[in-house]
Amino acid sequence: MADARPFHWEYQPEPVAREVFRVEGGTPLSGTVAISGAKNAALKMFAAATLTGERCRFTNVPEIEDVRVMAQTLQHLGVVVDHPSPNVYEVASGDVDWLFVPLEAAAKMRASFMLLGPLLARFGRVIISNPGGDRIGRRPVDLHVDAMRALGAEIEYRYGYYYAQAPGRLRGTEVRFPFVSVMGTENAMLAATLADGHTTIRPAAQEPEVDDLIAFLQKMGAEVQRTYPDTIEIEGRRRLRGAEHHVVPDRIEAGTFVIAGAVTGGRISLTGAPCDHLGALIDVLGRTGVDVSCGTDTIEVDGRSLDDAGFRATDIVTAAYPGLATDLQPPASVLLTQAEGTSRVHETIFEDRLEWMSELRRMGARIDLPDANHAVLHGRSRLTGAEVEIGDLRAGASLILAALAADGTTTIHGAHHVHRGYENIEGKFLGLGARIERLAEGNDATSS
Ligand code: EPZ
Repeated sequence: MADARPFHWEYQPEPVAREVFRVEGGTPLSGTVAISGAKNAALKMFAAATLTGERCRFTNVPEIEDVRVMAQTLQHLGVVVDHPSPNVYEVASGDVDWLFVPLEAAAKMRASFMLLGPLLARFGRVIISNPGGDRIGRRPVDLHVDAMRALGAEIEYRYGYYYAQAPGRLRGTEVRFPFVSVMGTENAMLAATLADGHTTIRPAAQEPEVDDLIAFLQKMGAEVQRTYPDTIEIEGRRRLRGAEHHVVPDRIEAGTFVIAGAVTGGRISLTGAPCDHLGALIDVLGRTGVDVSCGTDTIEVDGRSLDDAGFRATDIVTAAYPGLATDLQPPASVLLTQAEGTSRVHETIFEDRLEWMSELRRMGARIDLPDANHAVLHGRSRLTGAEVEIGDLRAGASLILAALAADGTTTIHGAHHVHRGYENIEGKFLGLGARIERLAEGNDATSS
C-alpha cells in the first residue's frame, strides 16, 4: 500500500448548507421537462473507469452531489477527473497511488463501495470503508464481499474497513447470489472483467443501469454479456481500454415527473425519457386511470382526469427489475394518496423505506402502517401544507410532489438530500409552472 500520505483523509466536504424547499401547492404543472442521465448508471461508470489507465469520457452525466462526491473520492486516489463542460466528465486512472477509500466517502455515499471490485481487480489490493446503513435500511455489503472472495480475493474486516487483496489475478468463477443485488451484481461484474478465466453471475440484476454499464464495459474491450435475463457471463481480459459513453436517462427521475404531472392535475411532456424502462410504473398508472402515452424517448402525462372521476386505488409491490422499483415507491405512494379508495403498498426491498410516510401523514394523508413493510392508504386524502423533514432523496422528491398537490404552503427541511440525486430539481419544477423556492434554513419564516 502506498503510505506516503497521512492516514487521515484530506477530503474537505463542503459544509452541508441547511436548506429548505418552500412549495406553494395547487398549481397544475404544464410544459416540457428534460430528463437527466441516470445517477445509478453514472456512478458505476466512474468506478468502472478505474479498470483502465486510459481516459474515459462520459456525456449526459447528471450534475448532482453524488457525482461530485464520487469525483472527489477518485481524485483522492490519484485519479484525474476533468469536467470540461456541463454534464461531461473525463476520468483518467493512470496514476492510482492510494488504494484507500475512507469512511468520509462511504458515509456520504454508499456507491463508493463500487470501487472495491475494479481496484481489487486492477491493482490487487484496496482498503475500503464499510458504507454501513442509511435511512432506508441496514444495507449490508456481505454479497459484494462474498462475490470477491469467490473470485479469489482475501478479505479481512477490521475496525470498519475491508482489507482486500488478490495475490496474482482474480480468478473467474461462478458467482451465485442468494437474491438479486444491483450493486452486488455490478461489483462482481467489474471485478470479473480483469479476472483470469470465465465468470458467471446468477441471479444477476436486470436493471437498465446494469445493462448500460455492460454497454460501457464492452466499449472498453471487456467480454461481458447478459446471456439470459438473470445471467451475466464474463471472459476476463488482461487489459481494458478507454472509452466514451452517453449515460442512459434516469428512469426514476422520469417516473417522478410523470407522477408530478398526474397529482397536480396537470399535463406535461418529458423529453429524453426512457418509457421502455418504466413498464411497471406505467402499468400502475394505467390501473389508477392516469393517462400516459409513450413516444420513442418522450412521455406525455395528463392528470386532468383527477378533476372528473379521480384516480382509482390500486395495490403496489416493489420488486427487482422488471418489477416496480423501490425508488419509485415513494412517488407512487403520493399518487395513491390522491386515488379514491384503499390502496396497499408492500415494500419488499428495503426494511425502513416506509418511514417517510409519517411526514406524508403530517400533510393530511390517511395512512396506516401495520408493520415496517406494509402501508394502507385511504384515499382520496386532502393534502394541506405543513412542515416536513426529508430523510432520503427519493422520499424528499416525493414530499415535493405531495406539496405541489397540497393546499397551502409546505416547508420541506433537508433539501440537500434531494440534490444528491436530482439535477436542478427546483429549476425543472419552476419551468413547469410550480411555485417552489429553495431557501437557507432560517429564512423560511413564512411557512405554514
Ligand atoms: C441500488 O442499491 C440503488 N443504488 C438503490 O438506489 C436502489 O434502491 C437499489 O439498488 C434497489 O433497486 C445504487 O445503484 C447506487 P441492492 P443497492 O443491493 O445495489 C440487500 C437511490 O435512491 N443486500 O439491490 O445497494 C439490501 O439490503 C438508491 O438511488 C444485502 O443483504 O441495492 C436490500 O435489501 C437507494 N447484502 C437488497 O439486498 C448485500 O451485500 C437489494 O439491495 C447487498 C444488498
